[in-house]
Amino acid sequence: MNFPVIRPRRLRKNETIRKMLRETKLSLDDLIYPMFVVEKPNVKKEIPSMPGIYQMCIENTVKECIQLEKLGVPAVILFGIPEHKDSKGSEAYNENGVIQKAVKAIKENTSNLYVITDVCMCEYTDHGHCGIIKDKDVDNDETLKVLSLEALTHAKAGVDMVAPSDMMDGRVEAIRDILDDNGFHNIPIMSYSAKYASAYYGPFRDAAESVPQFGDRRTYQMDPPNRLEAIREAELDIAEGADIIMVKPALSYLDIIRDMKEHYNMPLAAYNVSGEYSMIMNAIEKGYFEKEKVIPETLTSMKRAGADLILTYFAKTYAEMM
Ligand code: PBG
Ligand code: ZN
Repeated sequence: MNFPVIRPRRLRKNETIRKMLRETKLSLDDLIYPMFVVEKPNVKKEIPSMPGIYQMCIENTVKECIQLEKLGVPAVILFGIPEHKDSKGSEAYNENGVIQKAVKAIKENTSNLYVITDVCMCEYTDHGHCGIIKDKDVDNDETLKVLSLEALTHAKAGVDMVAPSDMMDGRVEAIRDILDDNGFHNIPIMSYSAKYASAYYGPFRDAAESVPQFGDRRTYQMDPPNRLEAIREAELDIAEGADIIMVKPALSYLDIIRDMKEHYNMPLAAYNVSGEYSMIMNAIEKGYFEKEKVIPETLTSMKRAGADLILTYFAKTYAEMM
């Protein structure tokens, strides 16, 4: 019997040495917490498929943001749910719309919380698609006009960063142009560069009340089997002026996160989406997973793949666990 001379287990002996040699370190500083803001007052309604995540009115959102800042969560990304939807999604670019009011109120009541807004039309259109419909499909260039107006109204409300999630061609350039033309040179754009047409968005569409009323999003979101296309999408966004690129979803797309990180010298975000949260949270509630272990392990996998930032519904829980 030849006993091994080389023994990797020597360096796993206790938590001190394991900690010293840990290659990837997850930090609360990297997390962005998504929030669903409804225009209707006096709302705090849990999303059935997402235990612990709520739709909240502006007042409750502000209270929650004060709490998040105390917990050390550095940033939030806001999704707005207006009282009135129409075919053009006009509430999306109303200067007095739900998100515009929410951004103002949060900035007035917090000191350093970084406020990001999702820029898209699907929560605002009565048909639930991410843009303006022409001939039963989303018209790219008409949509660019409303998306850029939406981003401008967010900037005027005082947002720190905008994040377009619509997947229209040319939207980063359109948004950069309108922001720069109006003096908002210093507002960065985090682009959902590789956003796949994913089944994992199911719970989000209930949370944001944005289920498409006909068809699906496959004429604008990416086809899940594609890898090289993600590289091309990011290349365009970078050329158009994106400051941060994003891969979404995260867990089934860790390979894409790694590809992006290897390809581009750019800050990279990963979106740990609603369906991923839902699966894990529901398993935690049933007692199948240990919350204290599965949450850090999951988020760390995204960092290990190459993400610098993680948008995650676990951000608040993670902050509370620390
Ligand atoms: C809207 C948008 C979606 C998500 C973020 N922005 C859903 C979609 O495209 O249907 C998904 C977020 C999640 O599932 O957590 N364009
Ligand atoms: Zn959308």
